[in-house]
Amino acid sequence: MRVALVGCGSVARRYARRIGETDGLELVGVTDVAPDRAAAVAGEFGIRRYDDLGAVLADDAVDAVVNLTVPQAHAAVTATALGAGKHVHTEKPVALTYEEASELARLAERRGVRLSCAPTTWLGAAQQTAWKVIRDGGIGTVRVAYAEANWGRIERWHGDPETLYAVGPVVDVGIYPLTILTMIFGPARRVTAYGTVLERDRVTLAGAPFALATDDFVVALLELAGGVVVRLTASFYVEHYGKQRGIEFHGDRGSLFLATWADSDSRLELASYEREYTAVPLVREPYTGIDWGSGLRELAEAVAERRPHRTSADHAAHVVEILGAISEASRGGATIELASTFEPRPPMEWAR
Ligand SMILES: NC(=O)c1ccc[n+]([C@@H]2O[C@H](COP(=O)([O-])OP(=O)(O)OC[C@H]3O[C@@H](n4cnc5c(N)ncnc54)[C@H](O)[C@@H]3O)[C@@H](O)[C@H]2O)c1
Repeated sequence: MRVALVGCGSVARRYARRIGETDGLELVGVTDVAPDRAAAVAGEFGIRRYDDLGAVLADDAVDAVVNLTVPQAHAAVTATALGAGKHVHTEKPVALTYEEASELARLAERRGVRLSCAPTTWLGAAQQTAWKVIRDGGIGTVRVAYAEANWGRIERWHGDPETLYAVGPVVDVGIYPLTILTMIFGPARRVTAYGTVLERDRVTLAGAPFALATDDFVVALLELAGGVVVRLTASFYVEHYGKQRGIEFHGDRGSLFLATWADSDSRLELASYEREYTAVPLVREPYTGIDWGSGLRELAEAVAERRPHRTSADHAAHVVEILGAISEASRGGATIELASTFEPRPPMEWAR
């Protein structure tokens, strides 16, 4: 499958590198509304720079567009590419509203092309092993999952964090465990949530102060159709330090801990009820870290084999509906104000 990248920002080089390493994929060119960004990536990888999206779509040598633009531009770029008869693999979220997302899914069907959607980390070896352990009854009936999506203060490494802060941590990173959990347990049916701004005043890498207009901390509770309850924490304040970005699955016979929902080689541990956690061997040799080519590889293979692709637009649209519900619930949810208080007491003398 010959692909072109639209959007040459922070994540584009990781895609370009991985596409080059993946059998069956060929990177033919790139474009960006900022031509110097596209020129830099094109030069680095020895590929063509297209003037704009129209030029990409006019090129018969491009089978699929990889949408790596900012979340606010995803739906329009994807709609234009699908409308031109190209397959699309899009970074998350597929769109900012459920209506837009489901319209894109229908557009792909009408045009007879594919719309494949990130996040695709659930295709990884550790994530697939976790799903298999659960399917095989390794921890019995699962009733609750705790998902952690703490991504820290992203302005300390991302040059243009504003578009990601504008959508917030649930949309940017909560979407990963939500995609994995709904894939394993089925669609969500009920959502409630709390959100707040922990640290409003931030500074960009270039030293420019900015103020957050959206919550940097959200806790959501979801009931999935199959009965599993999910507690999700998403934050652009708490750093993960390798601990706070995993999923705990709790079942009648035990618990399963996926240390990260991102890396294919995540640590995976199982504890029988009231026993210690021990390592679970993965079902196959994992890729190290996040495999940025996994969604495109799945798309290319599905097209070649004439079967539905796993990274489906209807699943992505459902997840976007969840994101919208969490946002709405966190703004409008019922809260109860408390009036009573108490006098603080000193710590013990020996602990001063
Ligand atoms: N940065 C990461 O680590 C990371 C990881 C996973 C997923 N993603 C996803 O990848 C996407 C891109 O993220 P990023 O961090 O690279 O963002 P970024 O802001 O660094 O880059 C986005 C690029 O898209 C370009 N762009 C915007 N609108 C465009 C349009 N209409 N047509 C063509 N180009 C356009 C911008 O000029 C910019 O160069 C986002 O959806 C994000 O959620 C990013």
